[in-house]
Amino acid sequence: MHFQMKDLTPRERYKLLISSVTPRPIAWVTTIGANGVVNAAPYSFFNAFGDSPALLVLGLLHDGEGADKDTATNIKAGGEFVVNLVREDDIEQMNLSCADVPRDVSEIEYAGIATAPALEVAPPLIATSPVSFECRLVEALDIGTRQSVVIGEVLVTHVADEFVTDPERLYLDTPAMRLVGRLHGSGNYVRTTDTFTVPRPRYDPERLAGRDSTSP
Ligand SMILES: Cc1cc2nc3c(=O)[nH]c(=O)nc-3n(C[C@H](O)[C@H](O)[C@H](O)COP(=O)(O)O)c2cc1C
Repeated sequence: MHFQMKDLTPRERYKLLISSVTPRPIAWVTTIGANGVVNAAPYSFFNAFGDSPALLVLGLLHDGEGADKDTATNIKAGGEFVVNLVREDDIEQMNLSCADVPRDVSEIEYAGIATAPALEVAPPLIATSPVSFECRLVEALDIGTRQSVVIGEVLVTHVADEFVTDPERLYLDTPAMRLVGRLHGSGNYVRTTDTFTVPRPRYDPERLAGRDSTSP
């Protein structure tokens, strides 16, 4: 079965994407509004896209009224944001912070989130996050009528000391962070505990020797 995306509604396209592109990491994004209120909200249209400079990208859909969500408004106006990664123990606060909280109310207080000052940007870090990235806006792309794609350069990466196993070689104890990801549906998440290792192969020309080019 296939689906011509142009024949579907936005909601239907969204369903196909979020039901299949899984697991997705979660960016718990902190920003500051023009009114000085600190905003926090989770975004799973998120990933890392480069290292020179280090880039993070967020997909911010419009709200029910077709307007930018607070995170998008604040990033476009202030040019700064912090991406905090989510550990299992923060699921409840992260989930509370996705509620439709009025613009003049801070999710930080509403959800009881602990914060710490950032070094280079105004929005704070989430203190309990194993890793936080201080970001400066590189570009906000309004593609279509329903969303903005925000590209940020990572200025500073914070890793909680307990997860840095070798500061010289930058080895991190990623499993110990117990990060969670987003799955299909509206309330499904995944732990990062069921892992396996596949060594990366070298090219081996012998694999092709004598093989019929039509065989798989
Ligand atoms: C785990 C999770 C991931 C989410 N990912 C996104 C996303 O990628 N894009 C989006 O527009 N909304 C996403 N949402 C919904 C927003 O968090 C929600 O609309 C929130 O109220 C936006 O807050 P803001 O207006 O303070 O930015 C997600 C919600 C949850 C719980």
